[in-house]
Amino acid sequence: MADATELLDAGERLGPEALRALQLERLRASLRHAYANVPFYRDAFDKAGVRPDDCRSLADLARFPFTTKADLRDHYPYGMFAVPRDRIRRVHASSGTTGQPTVVGYTEGDLSMWADMVARSIRAAGGRPGDRIHVAYGYGLFTGGLGAHHGAERLGCTVVPASGGMTARQVRLIQDLEPDVIMVTPSYMLTLLDEFERQGVDPRRTSLRVGVFGAEPWTEEMRREIEERCAIDAVDIYGLSEVIGPGVAQECVETKDGLHIWEDHFYPEVVDPLTGEVLPDGEEGELVFTSLTKEAMPVVRYRTRDLTRLLPGTARVFRRMRKITGRSDDMVILRGVNLFPTQIEEIVLRTPGVAPHFQLRLTREGRLDALTVLAEARPDAGPEVRESAARSIAAAVKDGIGVSVSVEIVDPESLERSVGKIRRIVDLRPR
Ligand code: DLL
Repeated sequence: MADATELLDAGERLGPEALRALQLERLRASLRHAYANVPFYRDAFDKAGVRPDDCRSLADLARFPFTTKADLRDHYPYGMFAVPRDRIRRVHASSGTTGQPTVVGYTEGDLSMWADMVARSIRAAGGRPGDRIHVAYGYGLFTGGLGAHHGAERLGCTVVPASGGMTARQVRLIQDLEPDVIMVTPSYMLTLLDEFERQGVDPRRTSLRVGVFGAEPWTEEMRREIEERCAIDAVDIYGLSEVIGPGVAQECVETKDGLHIWEDHFYPEVVDPLTGEVLPDGEEGELVFTSLTKEAMPVVRYRTRDLTRLLPGTARVFRRMRKITGRSDDMVILRGVNLFPTQIEEIVLRTPGVAPHFQLRLTREGRLDALTVLAEARPDAGPEVRESAARSIAAAVKDGIGVSVSVEIVDPESLERSVGKIRRIVDLRPR
């Protein structure tokens, strides 16, 4: 499906030079805004010996200090806000699975820019004004539900605000209300597909045409699995609360070749996670964002901990990022070898006899860490198929990643199902 040029918004129509000029102008304004209004940034810039006006080219951004999740936690709840409290129209909070949550805030202008970026994302995914959009991202402090919701409305779609959970009812709603697009985490999409099949409904025969999946890492193998099982185009949406929420980057349905970063609003860098040195485009490292137009909570060089690489634009003028390999926090170091859940996902989804449901269990045996891959058997897989699946997963991990793991093929329906972001790693090591 080619995207008709007349549907593109003004930002998407910029040429490369006009884009760079706009980015520099916005970057300088954003640095000035942060420095003038957030004591944290004023101190950090002063310590690093830089002033907003020292940023004369996009490359000069590298002279400015990073911002981390810990900085946001230290200034919980409102310390990073750059506007008076009465200009904040909404707050959201990050998942905060460990320790202090972080709160993020939006002015009216921020909410409008965010809706524009999600609308742009849905359009790039293949959604069109007039479409019906089933939103099964959670509504609430999580940015997924409300972020998708307002973007869909901005594009001129009809929203079904299903939120997460009540899986049987979701299947019913999809059959009755006939949405064109679904927005949900890929792991919850799998839960929905299982529920379709449990109810005896063929998911290939729904009205759905497009799935906009994100909020967690997922692989090309998962794309194939979902597209085949329900006959839709599955595309990737990326974002994080600290930067805005969903709609920071989006894969275009016509190319499905990684996510175009909406870099007229969010300026990306990829840095070496250890040294912080900026890496040239094409090299894998940690993604870092500087907001260019945010009012309530500008972020300067925010370290996402997400690992990817930057690539030139294809379907849009903006640079792309490769699908996220994983977060540095989710990297398992097993006897000196780095391993990400996405690598196991690729292997499990290629293995006959197992369902696309798996979990990684970390334990300690003596002084060594051990990893067990638990993968669910397909209902029709007998003992021999299960044994051969276990052997082939262990061999693929050994050959492809270079480390020995145990593999247990468990009964169908025995692993925890996702209703939102799935937890892949269960860490049972003693503290
Ligand atoms: O997950 C925002 C979002 C909602 C994105 C709905 C897409 C769809 P947070 O809860 O702050 O925000 O979590 C952000 O989730 O740093 C990544 O580690 C991960 N993440 C988000 N999208 C993707 C993706 C939302 N497409 C964190 N691929 C990010 C891989 C993703 N990881």
